[in-house]
Amino acid sequence: MFESKDPNIDYSLEGKVLNIKINRPEKKNALLPGMYKALGDGIRLGEASDEVNVILIQGVDDCFTSGNDVNGFSADNQSSEERPSVHFMHALNDARKPLIAAISGLAVGIGTTLLFHCDLVYASEQCFLQLPFARLGLCPEAGSSYLLPRQIGYQRSAELMLLGERFSSDKAKELGIVTEVLPQQDYLTTAVEKARELSELPPQAVQTSKALLKRGMNQQVAETIEVELEDFSRLLKTDEAQAIVQAFLNKKK
Ligand code: COA
Repeated sequence: MFESKDPNIDYSLEGKVLNIKINRPEKKNALLPGMYKALGDGIRLGEASDEVNVILIQGVDDCFTSGNDVNGFSADNQSSEERPSVHFMHALNDARKPLIAAISGLAVGIGTTLLFHCDLVYASEQCFLQLPFARLGLCPEAGSSYLLPRQIGYQRSAELMLLGERFSSDKAKELGIVTEVLPQQDYLTTAVEKARELSELPPQAVQTSKALLKRGMNQQVAETIEVELEDFSRLLKTDEAQAIVQAFLNKKK
């Protein structure tokens, strides 16, 4: 029943926890359209199944994700169809069941913004996070321009979003983006253990509590995702963004 349609995204059910794993280590888990689709589908499947109480998102040991595959930002690769990344963003926002993330290595771009939708985030002490959108000539996505200031305040959000520098998991914990920072060898086992613990609590009570904590936000976030996308698409077409994208792609050739 839980079978991913994408070779770089794995699903596995452990007890009542659906584990969704990003698994493209050779490209630092950069996300391709099919991967977004499988991530969004995984969340929707977990939401619809009585067998699942909690959804856990993880990467590989030394890498959560480097964010969107930069090839997809190239002017040659733009499509007007609804992008699978948007399907994933709305699946995150719509989730009634708890979402847990286990991160290590690096969490860049949507690798960080997806965390703002998660209820618990366990990070390795060997992990950096980054919101490099402005540096890339782009702007925030995934509802992050709404969620982040509400979670950590305006000034702190502006520092992360405008300067776009890397920051450590310790700083993320201090800011309130991460639940707990753990040694590399423990971050995943702790996340799995907490997911199991949460999956054994009365699901209606857990889901109702989550809904109350997020009351009134769902619609705002959904609207923000769409507003951000308009700006993102506009910026992506600019010469300044395309020059930065091409510089990354050419460096790699
Ligand atoms: N999109 C496409 N390819 C990516 C990628 C991304 N987001 N992140 C990494 N890769 C690829 C690299 O091009 C490289 O491919 P190659 O082996 O064919 O040359 C491979 O993954 C390994 O990455 P590399 O850059 O050699 O690893 P690193 O440890 O030196 O640096 C990063 C890792 C993540 C800091 C660096 O790859 C990077 O800055 N990536 C872009 C991140 C980004 O801007 N994401 C978009 C966010 S909106």
